[in-house]
Amino acid sequence: MSSRRDFLSGAWAAAGAGAAVAGAAVLGKALSGSPEEARTVELPEALLMKAERDGGLVHDGLLVRGPATAPVVLDLTCTHLRCRVAPVEGGGFSCPCHGSRYDAEGRPVSGPALKALARPHLMRAGSGFTARLS
Ligand code: FES
Repeated sequence: MSSRRDFLSGAWAAAGAGAAVAGAAVLGKALSGSPEEARTVELPEALLMKAERDGGLVHDGLLVRGPATAPVVLDLTCTHLRCRVAPVEGGGFSCPCHGSRYDAEGRPVSGPALKALARPHLMRAGSGFTARLS
């Protein structure tokens, strides 16, 4: 005869096993360096104007800079194992996970990352753009 304690113990064990499987899948994906699913980010004109005026800004994981009519966009996802890189003082980017450094154009300069930061494909969308990350 099973008791309430047995039932709860089994439920917790099942929940723990499920969490372990989900965690392993996420970790495996992160360690494989496999790309995330393709996504798009809208870059409306007002955001592009602000980026131009302020000398650049970070929006939804992207660095946006340059003229609003011809923006330059970098994906701030580290090309090593996909951590989020951050702009550093004096230009360039740094990854907090394993210390990769990129120059201001997103080219790797040190650390384990070997590929440059991705530049999303930009498509005109009204008076703004849509950035497509693959
Ligand atoms: S994820 Fe390893 S250096 Fe960025």
